[in-house]
Parts: sequence; structure tokens; C-alpha cells
Amino acid sequence: MPESERYFEPFVGSGAMLPFRPSPIGVAGDVIAELIQLWLVIQNEPELTAKEYELRWTRLQNEGHTAYYQIRDSFNATRNPHDFLFLSRTCVNGLIRFNKNGDFNNSLHHTRPGIAPERLAKVIHQWSYYIQNVKFMAADYRQTLAEAQTGDLVFLDPPYNGTKGRYMPTDFNFTEFYLELERLNYHGVKWVLTFDGVAGDRTYQSAMPPQLYKTQLDLPTGNSPFTKLMKTGLDAVVESVYLNFKPPPEIVSQVLNFGQKKLSPQPDLEMKQGHLFN
Ligand SMILES: C[S@@+](CC[C@H](N)C(=O)[O-])C[C@H]1O[C@@H](n2cnc3c(N)ncnc32)[C@H](O)[C@@H]1O
Repeated sequence: MPESERYFEPFVGSGAMLPFRPSPIGVAGDVIAELIQLWLVIQNEPELTAKEYELRWTRLQNEGHTAYYQIRDSFNATRNPHDFLFLSRTCVNGLIRFNKNGDFNNSLHHTRPGIAPERLAKVIHQWSYYIQNVKFMAADYRQTLAEAQTGDLVFLDPPYNGTKGRYMPTDFNFTEFYLELERLNYHGVKWVLTFDGVAGDRTYQSAMPPQLYKTQLDLPTGNSPFTKLMKTGLDAVVESVYLNFKPPPEIVSQVLNFGQKKLSPQPDLEMKQGHLFN
């Protein structure tokens, strides 16, 4: 990612890219308000957040599934971010799922104890440090991007066509999304977009209007952890990365090299389910 004044990430989710942002000053948003509340307590109250997890985790070890379902009810009634963190670390395969009424409805992953509190405490403190200069917003991506201007960089990881309906009850509107990209282009804001590529025999690439970007890079990224977890087969995934600028040639060749390595036989690098939790 090129140097920039500020870094914007309007579909932040679990923020995998945040520690790698090129500028310490960041603006991160997501439409899921509960997720943003969780980011805020990690940022501002890491000690308390670790302690609150420990309390719930200890209850789970002592009381079993009753504790999990009571905490789930409590979350659905109050939207407490500490309940949310606990649920995200102990629910089936860590999948955050809401029903039509907006209630969290995934069950307890009863064969796992949940990450140990002392390990999670370290992770929480590390992340709190990484995100100190980030402003979090519970907002639609357009609101998060409203202030972006020339000199800023935007990283976009919107819901994929291939994950329709997984995050929100209504489908993501791609026509409106392309208009927003056009607006950013008009204002000279640089962006990097990871987007639908190819998963197994399904191709999602055709939709991206070619006049919106200057560079497209295809990145084989291995097998889809999602289809693996859902046991719907192993999909080889090629991510498409679009940029509205031309990166230096050495960066392009690094990316292509990375792709070649992924295509050649590899030792088993696939996600081990256990490492997410234990
Ligand atoms: C593919 S995920 C992003 C994953 C992220 N890169 C990470 O590291 O976890 C897409 C995210 O976009 C959010 N989202 C969906 N529609 C949105 C909207 N209209 N505005 C802002 N965020 C939205 C979802 O809640 C989800 O967290």
C-alpha cells in the first residue's frame, strides 16, 4: 500500500489489515454497530475487556452450556460488547450470525473450551496498541468515506457476491458501490479493493466496471477456509485486487511471484480450526 496521509477502512470487520496500514492515522467503519462497540472497548479499555472475558470464560468452564446461552440472551437484550467478544470466541467455528430480528443465533462450540483468558489478554493488549490512532464509526461505508480526500488511501473489502446475505438481511448494492468508487476517483482518493475473484468453479469477476480502476492483480490465495469449515468442499480461491492507480513495477512482480508460489505445491498451510480458539 502506498504512503498516505490517512488510512480509511470502511468495511473493517475483524480488521485483519489494520496493523499493516501505511499511515498511523486511520478511520475504520462497519455497518454492524455491535462490532464497532467491541473495537472501542478493545481500544480504550483493554484491561477491563480482558477481565470481562475471563469472568465469562470461567463461568463457561464451571457451568457449561447454560452459561453460554444466558450470555447470548444477555447480549441480545443489551448488546454488551463484552458478551459479544465472549460469544465470538466460543460459538460454533467463530461464525458471527444474526437472525432476521438481528439476534445473535449461533450455538456453543461445545467441544472447545474457548481461548484461554491469559492468551486472549495478550492479544487484546497488542490490538489495543495497534489501533490507538484509529477512529471507529458504526456507519455505512459512504459515511465513513465522506471525509476522504486527495492524499488519503482507502482499503475496501466489501461483502463478496459469493457471500450474499451472510452479513446483512438485505443484499449489498453493487451499483451504488461502483458510484462511490467513481466519486473517490473524482476526488483523487487512492483505493485498493479486494473483490470477488474465482472460488472453485464460480467466477464473480465480470461485474467490476473496467473504467473504474487502473490495475487488476489476481492472487491465488489457497483454499477457502469458509467452504472448508462449512464442509461444502474445498474451493481454490483467486482473489482479485483492484487499484485505481499504477503501483511500482517491483510491487506488481512481488504480487505475481506470491501468486506463483501459491500455485505450486505447498505443504499444508490451510487453516487449522483449532488455532482459532485454543
Ligand atoms: C468481507 S467483510 C470484511 C472483512 C475484513 N477485511 C476483515 O479483516 O475481517 C465485509 C464487512 O463489511 C460490512 N458491511 C456490509 N455492508 C456494509 C455497509 N453497507 N457499510 C459498511 N460496512 C458494511 C460487514 O459487516 C463485514 O464486516
